[in-house]
Amino acid sequence: MNERRPDNMTRITTPELADAYIAEQIGALREQIGDKKVLLALSGGVDSSVVAAMLIKAVGDQLVCVHVNHGLLRKGEPEQVIEVFRNQMKANLIYVDATDRFLDKLAGVTDPETKRKIIGGEFIEVFAEEARKLDGIEFLAQGTIWPDILESEAGIKAHHNAGGLPEDMKFELVEPVRILFKDEVRVVGERLGLPAGMVYRQPFPGPGLGVRCPGAITRDRLEAVRESDAILREEFAKNGLEGKVWQYFTVVPDFKSTGVKDGKRTFDWPCIIRAINTTDVMEVTVEHLSDELIDHLVKRILSEVPGINRVLFDYTPKPPATVEYE
Ligand code: XMP
Repeated sequence: MNERRPDNMTRITTPELADAYIAEQIGALREQIGDKKVLLALSGGVDSSVVAAMLIKAVGDQLVCVHVNHGLLRKGEPEQVIEVFRNQMKANLIYVDATDRFLDKLAGVTDPETKRKIIGGEFIEVFAEEARKLDGIEFLAQGTIWPDILESEAGIKAHHNAGGLPEDMKFELVEPVRILFKDEVRVVGERLGLPAGMVYRQPFPGPGLGVRCPGAITRDRLEAVRESDAILREEFAKNGLEGKVWQYFTVVPDFKSTGVKDGKRTFDWPCIIRAINTTDVMEVTVEHLSDELIDHLVKRILSEVPGINRVLFDYTPKPPATVEYE
């Protein structure tokens, strides 16, 4: 299946257009899949979530979703995947908590590219192990979207969603959002009944919080990233910034500085807050926060996140700084 987006295709911007697309895809999926089984790596990101919801509508429990928790997800994410897909949509969902496996492999690894390779490689291994336990899978569903195809054709990004699976595991691909742009995937996702918080969520890198815990990942510093990120997201939502600011997150670098708490000396990490806006992620500008919100974030993070004694704000545009720290 190498379907291309027709040049004259109308941009899907309305519920009616989304419904028509969904109806057409459901027919095509039923025809392609028949009574066979389909496997999907469900990360909980927009694209794989929309693919899951579409396939549940089309083929029900012939779809087997595998959610791998690599231990680098944001607070509440694995729980949300289970709630939405297993409990509400009644999906056939296999949940694998592989946190220890990933963190053990990453222990002591400081090089950013090596960290990414370990996370990507281990992910495929865990997924392949689960796939091998299943009988009769003939199809692999993927959340490939149209910009992925364009970028891989332009040589910008190696698109290997499917790539990496062991040679002996050959599946036919199922890509129901392949010809859609991101904004169209979101409209379709809403019509499929996915929660807005899932459909309109900010981009989150595959290696997850792993790249926001620069250098060698330790469990305590990772927890400091996860907790501070949760506070930031909660405060942005409360202050009407969710869905308005492109991307926002915290980073806890691997160095400590002196502080004082309750009359005693402390030696703890800083927490860096980064909030940015962009259209194409090639160039980004910084979201300026109100003094009130800054004060409130500082107060909450210092009092609620163990191991943090300083809060810093990153006001650097891209270029020269990239969005992520590694
Ligand atoms: P940078 O740091 O390159 O980030 O300015 C641009 C956008 O890409 C995201 N990003 C990643 N996404 N895997 C991903 O899936 C990665 O390894 C990765 N690195 C960066 C980043 O969050 C930002 O939105």
